[in-house]
Amino acid sequence: MIYMLDTANLKDIARCVDLYPITGVTTNPSIVAKENRPLAAILKDIKNIIGDEIMLHAQVMGKDADTIVKEAYSLKEVVGSNFVVKIPATAEGIKAMKIISKKGDLRITATAILSPQQALMAAVAGAEFLAPYVNRLDNICADGVKVVSDIVTLLQKHNLKAKVLAASFKNVQQVHDVSMTGAQSVTVAPDVFEQLILHPLTDSGVAGFVRDWEGVYGKDTTVL
Ligand code: E4P
Repeated sequence: MIYMLDTANLKDIARCVDLYPITGVTTNPSIVAKENRPLAAILKDIKNIIGDEIMLHAQVMGKDADTIVKEAYSLKEVVGSNFVVKIPATAEGIKAMKIISKKGDLRITATAILSPQQALMAAVAGAEFLAPYVNRLDNICADGVKVVSDIVTLLQKHNLKAKVLAASFKNVQQVHDVSMTGAQSVTVAPDVFEQLILHPLTDSGVAGFVRDWEGVYGKDTTVL
């Protein structure tokens, strides 16, 4: 599983990248707008935290393929080698994916995917990651996990290299159900991300170990 963090909040990024095995940070225009600062400044600040190893995904806003391509390369200048451009799976977006993937010098995430056929076409157009929006589908009773599962199956059946980057989660159950489909990656907002490993029995179990140990070996002692 490739874990990514879906936020532009610098404090959350610093904390989660330090604690968890995160290999990507994803943003979208709504996430960026919450920060209310220029995109380039936000991306540079994120980059200062995550360095060169962790991917940074940012989305273009152009409405036609030529503008999208220009935006993509301009954002790559800002971020550097770990940049992945997010392009919506619209007709102009697919055209831009074809152009960029032909050049072969920029990684692509196809985003705003709500159907398996959008994902399939984006994969054929050269996208490396395909981002279906699970919760937005669940919100309209359209079964986001089934859409992800169908995309996983399509990629296997058509022998495509693209990876599912499941997105738009509101709870741990959705992330779990998507993980069970074999989706290769997820991007999760910090609040849900931090809940992935929470369990009250782990907390009480660890508290019991501390109580028993410290009762014999002394407060705050370790095995060192
Ligand atoms: C990621 O690519 C998406 O932009 C994001 O996960 C959407 O999440 P939302 O449905 O919570 O806005």
